[in-house]
Amino acid sequence: MGGESEKWILMVTARTPTNIAVIKYWGKRDETLILPINDSISVTLDPSHLCTTTTVSVSPSFDQDRMWLNGKEISLEGGRFQSCLREIRVRAQDVEDKKKGIKIKKEDWQKLHLHIASYNNFPTAAGLASSAAGLACLVYSLAKLMNLKEDNSQLSAIARQGSGSACRSLYGGFVKWVMGKEDNGSDSLAVQLADEKHWDELVIIIAVVSARQKETSSTSGMRDTVETSALIQHRAKEVVPKRIVQMEDAIQNRDFPSFARLTCTDSNQFHAVCLDTCPPIFYMNDTSHRIISCVEKWNSAEGAPQVAYTFDAGPNAVMIAHNKKTAALLLQRLLYNFPPQSDTDLDSYIIGDKSILKDAGIKDMKDVEALTPPPEVKDSIPLSQKSKGDVSYFICTRPGGGPVVLSDETQSLLGPLTGLPK
Ligand code: ADE
Repeated sequence: MGGESEKWILMVTARTPTNIAVIKYWGKRDETLILPINDSISVTLDPSHLCTTTTVSVSPSFDQDRMWLNGKEISLEGGRFQSCLREIRVRAQDVEDKKKGIKIKKEDWQKLHLHIASYNNFPTAAGLASSAAGLACLVYSLAKLMNLKEDNSQLSAIARQGSGSACRSLYGGFVKWVMGKEDNGSDSLAVQLADEKHWDELVIIIAVVSARQKETSSTSGMRDTVETSALIQHRAKEVVPKRIVQMEDAIQNRDFPSFARLTCTDSNQFHAVCLDTCPPIFYMNDTSHRIISCVEKWNSAEGAPQVAYTFDAGPNAVMIAHNKKTAALLLQRLLYNFPPQSDTDLDSYIIGDKSILKDAGIKDMKDVEALTPPPEVKDSIPLSQKSKGDVSYFICTRPGGGPVVLSDETQSLLGPLTGLPK
């Protein structure tokens, strides 16, 4: 092991996207291995707007595994991190860095310690599946550091053991998590259905909805559902298998009406299953319901879906518009119904791809105040009655690519000499 001294540090930095399920994962058949009771399908979100960046490093001078999340040290104890670290270490290979004069033999990885720093470019508390991007990035960056031979699909089966939906963040575009049949989980992994270029006119708008109380965690919510709901069995065995086939077809054919109908129906069934749980779980709130009504009214007035909506285990709405034109019309409707609070400026209320604002003809707050009710709404809402502040902000984004290694050393989150957060 090692170069001339024991001072060397080797590091890798990677960036991984988050994803939103359009056919939902809800319910495990194995809690430890994180094996689901049905297949799920997701869209990967553009990492330039939502992503995790992680630097992993190894040095003989490190005396324990340590991790920092968004600059704060966190514990690596606990199943999800330990499962991933163990599974990666057993697959580690020889590594040689000729420039630095470093040689690591595969058996050395069991003794060497790691420093890990991870950063989410969106608020971890916003309920935007940060653990999916986070665990995917941890596994991907460690796999590169330790020179694993496994492809992204095989790595997804490791990420799955950290956080179920993390397995879908190993690919860009449209991804299926195949539930698998094996008891050991070896065939429960992600496969790419189509890359992000396949259907690149889609536009995604996320409403980050202010939540008053912390919702039930997905882990305990899922467990309660599997133990108490009769509907979940019908969903997993009868409904989802057919929907998976239909959704794959819709994606392959870029059939937006089918894609949107399946996405909305599946989100609604997931929340119905939550309501069928004892005690019932409420993830959506009044604002979520109002967003659904706004989209449903518009879709039915047009006679064909313009926009799809989907909600995970929280009140945030993820809306998928057919193209830039419908996204601009959607943003007008959203801003009409959910204007920012008077002390919020438009620039921080609409983040991500701001070109949608321009397409919507909105430059400033005056334009927001001048918005008229959309044709499908009969009675206009007086500004004084609009609920300002129910949406914290909107993120405009699109389908995006999978994990990448960042080779530019300036993007590393750990100091090259100290191995500590910069
Ligand atoms: N949970 C939330 N964000 C995370 C990250 N970036 N890495 C690991 N776990 C996380």
